[in-house]
Amino acid sequence: MALRTRITELLGIEHPIVQGGMMWVGRAELAAAVSNAGGLGILTALTQPTPDDLRREIDRCRAMTDRPFGVNLTVLPTVSPPPYAEYRRAIIGSGITIVETAGGKPQEHVEEFKSHGIIVLHKCTSVRHALSAERYGVDVISIDGFECAGHPGEDDIPGLILVPAAADKLRIPMIASGGFGDGRGLVAALALGADGINMGTRFCATVEAPIHDNVKQYLVANDERATRLIFRNLHNTARVGRNSVSDQVAEILARQGARYEDVAPLVRGLRGRELLETGNLDAGLVWAGQVLGLIHDIPTCAELILRIVRDAEAIIRERLAPAIGEQEQAATA
Ligand SMILES: Cc1cc2nc3c(=O)[nH]c(=O)nc-3n(C[C@H](O)[C@H](O)[C@H](O)COP(=O)(O)O)c2cc1C
Repeated sequence: MALRTRITELLGIEHPIVQGGMMWVGRAELAAAVSNAGGLGILTALTQPTPDDLRREIDRCRAMTDRPFGVNLTVLPTVSPPPYAEYRRAIIGSGITIVETAGGKPQEHVEEFKSHGIIVLHKCTSVRHALSAERYGVDVISIDGFECAGHPGEDDIPGLILVPAAADKLRIPMIASGGFGDGRGLVAALALGADGINMGTRFCATVEAPIHDNVKQYLVANDERATRLIFRNLHNTARVGRNSVSDQVAEILARQGARYEDVAPLVRGLRGRELLETGNLDAGLVWAGQVLGLIHDIPTCAELILRIVRDAEAIIRERLAPAIGEQEQAATA
């Protein structure tokens, strides 16, 4: 049983399911579990404190899987940027063959990765950015709809519109991202013109996700209404789960003339890390998307991926194909 698409062919994976880069979550345990289950697992470069730590994490992941896995490099708008070029060198020097880039202006990195024969997936949130990434040579677009966890962009276009709008214009393969968590979503993504799906939040609620069980229970207990958008007035919109910290941030940023500095201590990455490690759900931001409404359990990655693919196949075979068959029979009767 397998759904073959341009993505499975290009990436050499069994199922068209990718685990997107996730700060503090995209470690070897999760990436290897996803890859072993036939999807594409992705390590998150900046989760590692130094490029040398990233080299070691890549080695650790290799020891856990002999299947393809990738590394995410997220280029953030920050005053004191991490040494991106050094992380890039660690990725290239470690022999990684698949990279997911995300964030602003990744062109320099893409060119360097491409010159080393690396397949580049670029994650973006609009058709115009997807087209410009295609022009400067990325191999695959991963397009995040408004439903997604993390940064959905400023256009507020949900996947139901964004994915087919992008499919109309792109020539390279595309992965639909944001709001995916089950077989129905996978079939929908393929129907909308994508070659596979990327999931973030859903993979956090798996046995292998290296985060505290309280966080996984939070993801199961909450529904599609439990996220909120913050940083809108800063033009760096982020979708996060509702908790006391995101409530506070939203309240402060709603004040006249509010600036990033007013919430900086609350939204620091290290607080988010503490939340994920200790399970104290009020320690910082918890990043989650509207797919919360579709998460009801904590399976292993293998159980999850198999379930998604099986359900997708059953929908195609038992609901969609017969719908055509019945009409054909009626037409010939
Ligand atoms: C906890 C968490 C951390 C994330 N961190 C990153 C990141 O560092 N870089 C990135 O490109 N995307 C990041 N994302 C976004 C995911 O890669 C993915 O695009 C998104 O989760 C898809 O939406 P979904 O959550 O509805 O599946 C993160 C998502 C989550 C849930």
